[in-house]
Amino acid sequence: MLPMGAPKTVLLTIAALAVAGAAAGALVVYGGLYNVAATEQHFQPVYSLLETAMHQSVRMRARNIEPPRLDDERLVMRGAACFRDKCVQCHGAPGVAQGDIGKSMQPLPGPLVDARHHWKPRELYWVTRHGIRMSGMPAWEFRLSEDDLWSVVAFLARLPDLTPQQYAEATRVEPTGAQGAPAGPSCGPATAPQANAAPLQAGDVRRGMRALHQYACNACHTIPGITSSSPNVGPPLTGIGGRSLIAGKLANTPDNMVRWLRRTHEVDPLTAMPEMGVTEQDARDIAAYLVTLR
Ligand code: HEC
Ligand code: HEC
Repeated sequence: MLPMGAPKTVLLTIAALAVAGAAAGALVVYGGLYNVAATEQHFQPVYSLLETAMHQSVRMRARNIEPPRLDDERLVMRGAACFRDKCVQCHGAPGVAQGDIGKSMQPLPGPLVDARHHWKPRELYWVTRHGIRMSGMPAWEFRLSEDDLWSVVAFLARLPDLTPQQYAEATRVEPTGAQGAPAGPSCGPATAPQANAAPLQAGDVRRGMRALHQYACNACHTIPGITSSSPNVGPPLTGIGGRSLIAGKLANTPDNMVRWLRRTHEVDPLTAMPEMGVTEQDARDIAAYLVTLR
């Protein structure tokens, strides 16, 4: 027969373990026991576990993305230029070492020469677009157009076949071209007028919320709904939607908000708020979000 006390003992043991676990956790967090130095490595099992979780997360989220055709040579060349401008400093390239930033990061950004063997094109697109949180891999969604994102993916598929000489050739920047413009492949709107001529849309609140932290507005402003360490460099934007003026200068309309965000120094040459290179569409989306803060 089971002794009457058994279930109670089990419960007490579980409770005691939970309390001990919480106490150990509190000691690690509040006692400063966890070493955050980037000069310390993760233990191999911890690292492997984190890497597996990251891979699985990407696989799951990228599974419904349909890649366009990626074998167009112009797309690959444009991807080479984007890679040179945005990725080499951290990841290196054939015959090119990572910059100081990349070399000393933890986790270490690996060379992407073998990326196509570990990831499907749609997964490379997902990682490049969204970045990897808590790892230092930036998100490029607000910095590369949709076409540029895919051009990088097209280039990554070609990377393993390139010799250092071919890479250097593909990414060479000529000082001036025929009309005085930089020759050689380049990345971004200037080279792809049609790619970036997407018609402007009315402000999208959800996208604006993402744009706010992707433009690092929360580095200076406390903004309801955006995670931050409550900075005070700029005024808190709490209730901004209900105020009558923007920065004491402009009537608070969505159009004026776009103007403030894009032409900050034209509105107020002396303001400490920097111009953040916000695109028209992104500014509209941000304005739409800010209106909701009442
Ligand atoms: C500021 C440094 C930095 C820059 C710039 C950067 N990355 Fe990364 N990248 C990282 C870090 C850190 C990781 C994470 C490594 C890990 O978790 O193992 C990473 C991981 C990746 C991965 C997953 C690789 C793997 O197999 O582990 C891909 C793909 C990638 N980056 C693509 C890019 C592309 C494309 C660009 C340019 C558009 C780029 N990265 C720019 C730092 C950077
Ligand atoms: C480097 C710090 C910094 C960053 C980054 C920054 N701001 Fe500002 N912002 C300021 C400062 C300082 C002011 C006060 C300007 C003034 O009144 O002259 C300000 C003012 C504002 C105002 C007017 C607030 C009011 O009370 O009228 C808005 C709106 C605003 N910022 C939005 C943004 C958005 C959106 C972003 C991101 C795209 C951003 N800011 C990025 C520093 C910053």
